[in-house]
Amino acid sequence: MLKTLTSVIILIFALNGLTAQQEFNIRLRTAIDGYYSESHNVITRDGYILEVHRIPFRRFRIKENDSKNPKPVVFLMHGLQGSSLSYIYLGPERALAYLLAEAGYDVWMGNARGGLNSRRHIFLNPDTNAERFFNYSYEDIALKDVASTIDYILKVTRQSQLHYVGHSQGGTAFFVLNSLRPEFNTKIKSAHLLAGVGYMEHFPNKILNAIAFGTNLLYSVALEQGIVEVLGPRDANSLNEEEYNKSPAYSLLLTVIDVIVSIHKQLEMVTPASLKQYAHFGQNIRAKSFRRFSYDPLENFIRYGSLSAPEYDLSKISVNITMHYTVNDHLLDERDVLSMASVIPNAKARKITRETYNHNDFVLAPDSKELLYDYILEELDKNR
Ligand SMILES: *[C@@H]1O[C@H](CO)[C@@H](O)[C@H](O)[C@H]1NC(C)=O
Ligand SMILES: *[C@@H]1O[C@H](CO)[C@@H](O)[C@H](O)[C@H]1NC(C)=O
Ligand SMILES: *[C@@H]1O[C@H](CO)[C@@H](O)[C@H](O)[C@H]1NC(C)=O
Repeated sequence: MLKTLTSVIILIFALNGLTAQQEFNIRLRTAIDGYYSESHNVITRDGYILEVHRIPFRRFRIKENDSKNPKPVVFLMHGLQGSSLSYIYLGPERALAYLLAEAGYDVWMGNARGGLNSRRHIFLNPDTNAERFFNYSYEDIALKDVASTIDYILKVTRQSQLHYVGHSQGGTAFFVLNSLRPEFNTKIKSAHLLAGVGYMEHFPNKILNAIAFGTNLLYSVALEQGIVEVLGPRDANSLNEEEYNKSPAYSLLLTVIDVIVSIHKQLEMVTPASLKQYAHFGQNIRAKSFRRFSYDPLENFIRYGSLSAPEYDLSKISVNITMHYTVNDHLLDERDVLSMASVIPNAKARKITRETYNHNDFVLAPDSKELLYDYILEELDKNR
């Protein structure tokens, strides 16, 4: 009875002040799961408005008593075409965000530009200024979105450090941020990367390897056709093959997306991304390395001081990192994980024991609790 009442109260909190459709979804969803949650807006220095979600209390609580000892903060960053929904999808007693909240953490979940409720900008309209709005790669997500969100969380919680968890591109962003702006290392107490994609020397997927050869050509053809956003609101309404068959570039792109996020299986989980993110990954797959976005040689020289794009220097990362990986990952090879772990001073690699576990299982498989999350909770507990 009391729990039902608390749930109703949480629902009222959740419904209060809702605007966007998706914000409704995520806060309603946490409320139905019995958790109070908050939405915060973070504005990046280049004007993107990001929606960040917070679950500060345990289940069926709307207040907790430790103002003297603020809870340790964990920040969860999603993967390509994902969102904060990734971390609550498995529901109470299974989803990482909820398990962390139960263990007494102040849980924050980011949303990259272009994605869930973050398809907003202080002056660019994503529909009418799409070319400019979607002109970003994961390096922008790392240096602007993740950086601003971390600074925002530390300010609001008045803490000096947080724990970081990143799935897939959420791991990529971690590598990029901490290698290009090493001062961020001091803001992160520890990190758990779930299939964090970086080195690509042994990139496993054959289809993507083949397509990656044409990355720059495909990217420029797509730009000419005005394709800059991947699975935006217009596309998501009608994942209609006929439409896309009209544009060979787009139908090829759909193949790529399907391999990466299995859209047909996980449509409700998917939020928009930019084509430039795909182009950047494509360049890396092709170059078999992990480097900054490559423009033409002149532009590279102006930006980076070298004719080709420089590699990210992972040896600059000093945070204690556990890199969780699985052998059934078509986007990240074990050898690349181990070689990153040997370059990053305080990194260790940990293999998931179920061999059929795949890239998206890190946030979608119910047995992630036993295979992965319990371990993370234990490690975090040693160094709250
Ligand atoms: C806070 O709540 C816990 C139980 O959840 C209790 O053990 C503790 O004494 C409380 N602390 C204060 C300062 O009231
Ligand atoms: C996208 O960004 C690149 C690099 O900053 C710039 O050269 C290009 O002109 C931009 N394109 C658009 C349409 O804003
Ligand atoms: C990293 O972990 C080790 C062993 O758990 C610990 O001794 C060390 O203080 C940690 N370093 C940082 C920077 O947290």
